[in-house]
Amino acid sequence: MHDVLSRAAALAKHSDSSRNYTRTYLTPAHQAAARHIAAWMREAGMSVRVDAMGSVIGRLEGPPGAKTLLMGSHFDSVRDGGKYDGVLGILLPIAVADELQRCGERPPVAFEVAAFADEEGARFQTSFLASRAMLNGAESVRPLLDRRDADGISFADAMHAAGLDPARIDEARIDASNLCAYLEVHIEQGPVLLDRGAPLGVVTSIAGGSRHLVTVRGEAGHAGTVPMPMRHDAMVAAAEMVLAVEDCAARAKLVGTVGIVQVKNGTGNVIAGEVEFTVDLRAPDDLRRRALERDVLGRFDAIASRRGVRVEAVKRHEVSAAPCAPWLQDQVAASITAAGAEPLRLPSGAGHDAMILAEVVDVGMMFVRCGAGGVSHNPAETVSGEDAALAARALLAFVRNFKPR
Ligand code: GLV
Ligand code: MN
Ligand code: MN
Repeated sequence: MHDVLSRAAALAKHSDSSRNYTRTYLTPAHQAAARHIAAWMREAGMSVRVDAMGSVIGRLEGPPGAKTLLMGSHFDSVRDGGKYDGVLGILLPIAVADELQRCGERPPVAFEVAAFADEEGARFQTSFLASRAMLNGAESVRPLLDRRDADGISFADAMHAAGLDPARIDEARIDASNLCAYLEVHIEQGPVLLDRGAPLGVVTSIAGGSRHLVTVRGEAGHAGTVPMPMRHDAMVAAAEMVLAVEDCAARAKLVGTVGIVQVKNGTGNVIAGEVEFTVDLRAPDDLRRRALERDVLGRFDAIASRRGVRVEAVKRHEVSAAPCAPWLQDQVAASITAAGAEPLRLPSGAGHDAMILAEVVDVGMMFVRCGAGGVSHNPAETVSGEDAALAARALLAFVRNFKPR
């Protein structure tokens, strides 16, 4: 089978930055990566289409009338990320298609591989956008078309520049009743498989998450003249709120992250007047996540009133926790066993396109062990050649033996 790691290395060359691996939605590097993926799909004997969001979808026909087994993941990345996050879940099923073609075999059902164009959403602060559009059409995307990237380019203009038409987003929608299952392979992005000495895992469920954009408004002032007790410093209030996120999440035994903090017109000798920051909260259980959200937002209000600043939190994203279907878990476990490894069952703390697909079809996930202590969203993210080859064999066994429910 194809050496998936050298393909991942080749794909990582399509980066927005010459200094690191960053591939955000619809940049020239992103479009080049899409063409590269399409070429590999064609080489594997798949028919290829590019949807209205720029996702690349390859298809191998199955027996007449058979439903479609969809596999896939995303090919955008976080800034300065790891080159396997998402990409592994595209390259492995393409390698399976290649192998089926080499052996002259037809899959037991129609087999599609979706390379989703935008999942991380680093450019326009979106999330799972390409898979959402595939299921819901324009309704998930239209409200975001005015958003601007860090260079002031609007989402709609970015689409035009990439040869996509915002008026045609609805055409990305598929008829989900033709699907019999969605399976996503992903690097684990954590240390559990590494710690347990297991190369491959069966995901039991995926944690839900929400993201808020928080704006703190205080009063800008001269850094040299305003006495400390008279300040309404938005930065110090925001700093206290960041600590509150950490504290609330730790107490709830969940996770909370502030990944971006920006001072409006920030200057070294000016007391910050306005600060914006993001809050990402995750939980395996939606009720516990909502309780954490209330706790965090309540703490923000208390901090703001004590410090004489105003705070506004706008929810920018929410996705429910998603269980993986037991029948797919069992078939993934059997395929790992067939490849000669012990399947280990574990939940996913990270979000995946599978959560969106779970709204309309049964989903399953296979995890591949992450090296380097399990780091991800980090350039040190790594996978061994042996584990990738084992995952390819397990996935081939999964497809060959796949039985729709
Ligand atoms: C996707 O990488 C996520 O934020 O979980
Ligand atoms: Mn990611
Ligand atoms: Mn990912």
